[in-house]
Amino acid sequence: MSERTLVLVKPDGVERGLVGEVLSRIERKGLKLAALELKNVDDELAGQHYAEHADKPFFGSLVEFITSGSVVAAIVEGENAVAAFRQIAGGTHPVEKAAPGSIRGDYGLEVQYNLVHGSDSAESAEREIKLWFPDR
Ligand code: PPS
Repeated sequence: MSERTLVLVKPDGVERGLVGEVLSRIERKGLKLAALELKNVDDELAGQHYAEHADKPFFGSLVEFITSGSVVAAIVEGENAVAAFRQIAGGTHPVEKAAPGSIRGDYGLEVQYNLVHGSDSAESAEREIKLWFPDR
């Protein structure tokens, strides 16, 4: 069943020139880009996006990081889009969890600088898409 997911290329991915690489992997997987925008994120959007992690010890640095530079936000569509993107992204920790061949496994070293975000469920995706693309 076709579904949507929200993908972010975080400030480390944009800064390192990996936007094309990430988008290319999304397209090669067979997923479609339905919306794409370069954004500067304010504290309000960052806080809403990461609201479920508000009580985690790393919440402050997560917000600081996502607001530290430009972010590319995309709505990605396709069969099992949520799981499919999380598969190509790899696990949260680029070394301890992400397999080689995944985006994080190939390009990351540290958990905070893990390059991309993908919604963790279809429900989260719809919530996040409303925040990042209010018109969609
Ligand atoms: S958890 O604890 O299982 O809910 O965490 P997880 O879903 O794996 O991660 C949620 C987001 O927090 C980021 N994260 C961290 N940032 C900084 N430091 C540490 N230690 C850390 N642990 C997790 C992680 O990259 C997730 O960000 P997004 O943007 O959703 O990928």
